[in-house]
Amino acid sequence: MIRYRHHIVLRAEELSEALDRLAERLLPMLGSEEVTAIPILGGAVFFAADLVRRLPAGLVMDFIRIQTYGDATSPQREAKPDWLPNPANVTGKHVLLLDDILDTGRTMTAARKFLLEQMGAAKVTVVVLIDKPARRAVPITADDFAVQFEEDQFLVGFGLDYRGRFRNLPFLAALETDLDGLPKRLESSQTVL
Ligand code: IMP
Ligand code: MG
Repeated sequence: MIRYRHHIVLRAEELSEALDRLAERLLPMLGSEEVTAIPILGGAVFFAADLVRRLPAGLVMDFIRIQTYGDATSPQREAKPDWLPNPANVTGKHVLLLDDILDTGRTMTAARKFLLEQMGAAKVTVVVLIDKPARRAVPITADDFAVQFEEDQFLVGFGLDYRGRFRNLPFLAALETDLDGLPKRLESSQTVL
């Protein structure tokens, strides 16, 4: 088991309360239109599953995959979709585009543009679990978010991963990083992930 220095930033109950509040705010924004909720695979599926169960029955779910992160903690390549939703779920529809985190904004910008321009979505509402404006590199703001962190920290849990791990943590933790931006390994006596 690989162990990293970390601290918990939001407990499971706090996340649940933030999602309750977010869902309440979204209800009027979604109106009575036909809505397709589209999480960006894979980190957003945890957040999306919890959020849509707080929204009215009858919305359609579909998925898009756009990868910008390899195994590092900063963006590596240009964002391009490699898994697309069914056009019938997007063309002319109001899309609720969901991601775990809005960081540089590249992933969300590429996904929104693709759904509007290539797939003919009527409207795209961008909602994220976490808004992290500190590293924003492209001008995009979320229509809404569950939580916002001003501090630039590398988060794991609730769908967010480091090297594919920790997505399944029910809470949100920040990994402590060294000067290279890489998570610090721990000695076994400390609290571990
Ligand atoms: P963006 O394109 O830089 O906005 O990044 C969005 C994607 O980067 C997210 O879907 C995450 O997969 C990943 N990401 C950004 N920040 C973090 C973080 O703090 N922890 C884990 N993944 C992150
Ligand atoms: Mg992701």
